[in-house]
Amino acid sequence: MLDFIILMAQNGVSNMDVLSVDQFDIKQLEKIFSLAESIERRLKDKKAAKELAQKHFDKQICTLFYEPSTRTRLSFETAGLKLGMGVVSTENAAGFSSAAKGETLEDTINVLNNYGLSAIIIRHTETGAAGKAASVSKVPIINAGDGTGEHPTQALLDAYTIKKHFGRLDNLKVVAGGDLKYGRTIRSLCRLLALYPGNHVSFVSTPELQMADDIKQLLQKSGTTYDETDDVNKVFADTDVVYWTRLQKERLENPGSIDSGGFTLTADNISKLPKEAIILHPLPRVDEIDPEVDKDPRAKYFEQAGNGLYIRMALLDQIASS
Ligand code: CP
Repeated sequence: MLDFIILMAQNGVSNMDVLSVDQFDIKQLEKIFSLAESIERRLKDKKAAKELAQKHFDKQICTLFYEPSTRTRLSFETAGLKLGMGVVSTENAAGFSSAAKGETLEDTINVLNNYGLSAIIIRHTETGAAGKAASVSKVPIINAGDGTGEHPTQALLDAYTIKKHFGRLDNLKVVAGGDLKYGRTIRSLCRLLALYPGNHVSFVSTPELQMADDIKQLLQKSGTTYDETDDVNKVFADTDVVYWTRLQKERLENPGSIDSGGFTLTADNISKLPKEAIILHPLPRVDEIDPEVDKDPRAKYFEQAGNGLYIRMALLDQIASS
């Protein structure tokens, strides 16, 4: 029985859906991280990896992506394959599924429900689309990013990366920078950080890309302190985690209205960071981190992307075992 994904108390969604980080508490998060860690270890052992690759030979998953993706779709598909699952996929559902002929999301999900799948992993342009899919689905739905809403599995892998490095998710100073208005990954990560005591978040953005009030209110309510600045130099000297993001141009009402997220991390400005700090980015990167930064041992964003495989294997393993 799945014990770490709890009931979402809305729309009658199944207790195996992964729609929002809000459905997890600290105990459940620790179980996910512990399973991800065990899977990471087993993948390094030839015999254990082979056993994993046979574990769910009779299960299939579907990746249904209405928006572009490299990491989320391919790591979910790799995760399924490394657990022995079959994978069916539509990588451009907006253009090449029957959505292009006018089929509703609900009808698509109702059809997929007849194929004996173990999970449907969905990315969509609309905030709330994963919840909408879950409201009609008997098959567990995993939210792989819905508009400017949430990206829960990204937040899980972000938190897993932080935990692996610092051994904890509390009492951390986090600098979140770039496009805080349209980026969904930082919204989900803030929700997770708010569960743990003693965290402080510094939001660094230009005035037009500031973090929305709902997240600031959530932090305040949970006792997580935050500040806002447009000057990285004010916050870099005293931070544990730098979480940088790109401008989400695809979400701007007028795509030409803003050129960039306003701040580029360079070898020069990261020299102000403490030696133990880590630099994360959900990727893709455009021009907000100079490739020179990649050589710095504090740059962990590629390792972070790799952690997505273990987290997504942990989720799929639990869902398929239930
Ligand atoms: N971080 C992330 O969601 O990357 P993709 O858009 O490539 O899936």
